[in-house]
Amino acid sequence: MTVLLTGGTGFIGSHTAVELLDAGHAVVLADNYSNSKPSVADRVTAITGQAVVAQEIDLLDRAALERVFQEHEFDAVIHFAGLKAVGESVAKPLEYYTNNLVGTLNLLQCMRARGVRRLVFSSSATVYRSDNPVPYREDYPTGATNPYGWTKVMIEQQLRDLAASEPAWSVVLLRYFNPIGAHPSGLIGEDPNGIPNNLVPFVAKVAAGVLPEVRIFGDDYDTPDGTGVRDYIHVMDLARGHRLALENIRPGVQTYNLGTGRGSSVRDVIAAYEEACGHAIPASVAPRRPGDLASVYADPALAARELGFTTEYSLLDMCRDSWHWQTTGAVAAA
Ligand code: UFG
Repeated sequence: MTVLLTGGTGFIGSHTAVELLDAGHAVVLADNYSNSKPSVADRVTAITGQAVVAQEIDLLDRAALERVFQEHEFDAVIHFAGLKAVGESVAKPLEYYTNNLVGTLNLLQCMRARGVRRLVFSSSATVYRSDNPVPYREDYPTGATNPYGWTKVMIEQQLRDLAASEPAWSVVLLRYFNPIGAHPSGLIGEDPNGIPNNLVPFVAKVAAGVLPEVRIFGDDYDTPDGTGVRDYIHVMDLARGHRLALENIRPGVQTYNLGTGRGSSVRDVIAAYEEACGHAIPASVAPRRPGDLASVYADPALAARELGFTTEYSLLDMCRDSWHWQTTGAVAAA
């Protein structure tokens, strides 16, 4: 297939590009480079040995997007592009709703105009309401507690409404848990602007001596060691999940969790990272972060049954690949 990847030079987009190219698909990467660099496309080429088309496009620029659809015959789109920082979305709701919702609507209008009706969408475990019991199952009710989360809930709804009204659409909603790790080559990985919000990119910077210590946001949760539990998934596994979703796409809307089904605590992550980097990582307990839940992990059974998707990488693998990227690729990309 020839596939358009919006947000294609971002963390998950770039790893999925490698996975698709290695499997014989063709990709076009579209990105506005708000949270990634054009050089990522060269690194995708270095890994796969294949030329990659990368275009600087903002999804809010409808005319530019239409030109991309005129220049290429796409069989499908994987829609990664979007703003994704929870705290920033609370401070800038209008920017989040405009960027994520209007960008998606422009994309859907272009797709329909060109007769492209296969879409895989980057959704999130954040769409599960906080009163759901773990493990989270795809048929649980959805809701959100911040504008970022609402954009994911709303786009899922737009896509369900669209597919219900036009049966020619084939849509897959992939609900990611906590993607971490990097390509084992160390050439591509997560490269957030500024000080990271998420645990593993923050731990990586502390391990590298760039930041002084990890702040553990609460150790009095109802979890085995009192710290927050999450379902961390290697970005390589996640990328394979996208390929399987694409290769098994069918009319209607399918929704899948992409997680391991296993929870790891903040202390588990720090311990695994210490093993990966070979030295102690300074950490201290801080107050809980507002809005955080004690424990979030997937029921991965549906993706296993319908896509044949099971994860292969351990938490230690994820930390090793993150550290390799932190000490080689991220430094070279800076
Ligand atoms: N944490 C710390 N210290 C830090 C950062 C995080 O202790 O410096 C803890 C958090 O309290 C939480 C865990 O580490 O228990 C994971 O936090 P992350 O910020 O890495 O990830 P979240 O689970 O909070 O959020 C992620 C994505 C969101 C998405 C959500 C869906 O970042 O975009 O999963 O569940 F909405």
